[in-house]
Amino acid sequence: MTRRIETAILISGRGSNMAALIAAARAPDYPAHIGVVIADRPEAGGLALAREAGVETLAIDAKAAGGRTAFESALDAAVRTRGIELICLAGFMRILSADFVGRWPALNIHPSLLPAYKGLDTHSRALADGVREHGCTVHWVAPELDAGEIVAQTRVPVLPGDDAERLAGRVLVAEHALYRTALAEVSRRLIAGG
Ligand code: GRF
Repeated sequence: MTRRIETAILISGRGSNMAALIAAARAPDYPAHIGVVIADRPEAGGLALAREAGVETLAIDAKAAGGRTAFESALDAAVRTRGIELICLAGFMRILSADFVGRWPALNIHPSLLPAYKGLDTHSRALADGVREHGCTVHWVAPELDAGEIVAQTRVPVLPGDDAERLAGRVLVAEHALYRTALAEVSRRLIAGG
């Protein structure tokens, strides 16, 4: 059995990037194994998708946990007990503390060509600026929002007639492919000890 990086995916919503990673990790030679999907909201749609795909799911209700410290200690215990080596944020709408980020290597996918358009509403902001190119980025998670080291990017052209929804749809397709490739690359590097 080839070595695979034991990975947890953190979600808050529909989980299409999560689903892309789960699908990729079904390939026998994919260097990451998705051990668990964790949501910070029990109603996150992606939880059902993960369950259907046969992946263990867990909801740690951030509201019920009573604050970030309590939420993060539950999260820390959940990933530690499962032997997780790498965390992938996929539409996870919570800012993790510097302490947590310092303890766990984590990747994030962001729908813009970072460092442009950090934060929310990236598609409408890019359209309002009249940019010709938009895209998505996989980056290491750092304490500062959307600011960690860039792992990989895909450029997506802005087309005539684009509105935020159309552009977001095209970027999302690119996100799925980019995240699959980036997780594989990072996992191979980790396995090689780099
Ligand atoms: C994606 O566009 C991702 O880049 C952003 O939030 C969205 C999540 O979509 N962080 P999904 O839950 O993966 O479908």
